[in-house]
Amino acid sequence: MKFFIDTANLNEINEAHDLGILDGVTTNPSLMAKEGISGDSNILKHYSEICNIVDGDVSAEVISTDFDGMIREGKILSDLNSKIVVKVPMIKDGVKAIKYFSNHNIRTNCTLVFSVGQALLAAKAGATYVSPFIGRLDDISNDGLNLIKEIKDVYSNYNYQTEILAASIRNTMHIINCAKIGADVITSPLESILGLLSHPLTDSGLEKFLSDYNKGK
Ligand code: E4P
Repeated sequence: MKFFIDTANLNEINEAHDLGILDGVTTNPSLMAKEGISGDSNILKHYSEICNIVDGDVSAEVISTDFDGMIREGKILSDLNSKIVVKVPMIKDGVKAIKYFSNHNIRTNCTLVFSVGQALLAAKAGATYVSPFIGRLDDISNDGLNLIKEIKDVYSNYNYQTEILAASIRNTMHIINCAKIGADVITSPLESILGLLSHPLTDSGLEKFLSDYNKGK
């Protein structure tokens, strides 16, 4: 399973990269705004800085909601760096844009996916990644993880190559359960990734090892 970090914060991206397990980054307009990045040229510059840190894919989202606008923006984004994956919302023009990008060898991440039907359309259009938002489904008392399972079943029925990128991860157990289901990728805040490290028996075991070592000095 690939690990992406879901942030536009350069310190967090660096920290995850230094851990040696980072496969990519996803951003969205809200995450950019959270870092105080605004204005087209600043946003493009920030994407370049992210690309300079990571080795893998960097999802950069279009703002347009019409086909022509998405194509124009997507071309600018994908020309910026070969690591960029154009993030396109799951709307009618978005599906058309994904098909266009797929025909022109531009990689895409279909975002804001909340149903199997939407995931099916994304795969049919040739999306590189599909991003079901599990946390936001959980927030409205739906089962986000079950959606990952259902998309996996449907994609395997037809051997679709679109990778399932579990997004809107809220906690460490989301990551573990996505791995059990067989999601291709998770994108997560740093905190939930670091949560994978923790176990009280590791902490107490290490403390004992070190105190026993020090007794023998
Ligand atoms: C996906 O790529 C999105 O950026 C993200 O996972 C959304 O997560 P949220 O629901 O925590 O905003």
